[in-house]
Amino acid sequence: MGLIEGEEELIYTAVGAVLQSCGTGRESLIPVLQGVQGRLGYLPRLAMKRIAEAMQLPEVEVFGVGTFYNGFRLTPPGRRQVKVCLGTACHMMGGHIILESFERRLSIHEGETTPDREYSLERVACVGCCALAPVVVVDDKVEARVSPIRVDGILLTFEIEKKEQEAEQQREAGQQQEEQHREEGREA
Ligand code: FES
Repeated sequence: MGLIEGEEELIYTAVGAVLQSCGTGRESLIPVLQGVQGRLGYLPRLAMKRIAEAMQLPEVEVFGVGTFYNGFRLTPPGRRQVKVCLGTACHMMGGHIILESFERRLSIHEGETTPDREYSLERVACVGCCALAPVVVVDDKVEARVSPIRVDGILLTFEIEKKEQEAEQQREAGQQQEEQHREEGREA
């Protein structure tokens, strides 16, 4: 997945700060990867490349560690993190159909993030509310007894919220501009 504007600089800053506190010895590789993921939310390829250079390790070794452990995330988290439960109860109640519905609607596969980084999609094991199966967790909010139609409803709600937020931001920016013009008018 490509980087977004300004991300390259963020990556270099994060890697530099983590290397400074953890050191560049080989034994620090996992803490460094954890630290960088903690700061960026995931492990971008560029970060692993930079870490390999700084620690004087073969890139393949750093990539190998990054991809081996489940705790490391190689794709950026979306602003909305959709987790579809595929534990036994949810699977029996059609959890895989729900996952497919999200995949179709978002045009991504599980484990991926939409190019605009709005949504990431994952499958998870039992989240502890089997009586509500099939369950989807979006940003820590549990959606119960989800159907393919409900998938459309969930995504539509987010689209509406996003449009409202954008409109609000535009209104605020317009007000700030107006105030600035008034200030300038008073000073002139
Ligand atoms: S299997 Fe999905 S909540 Fe338990």
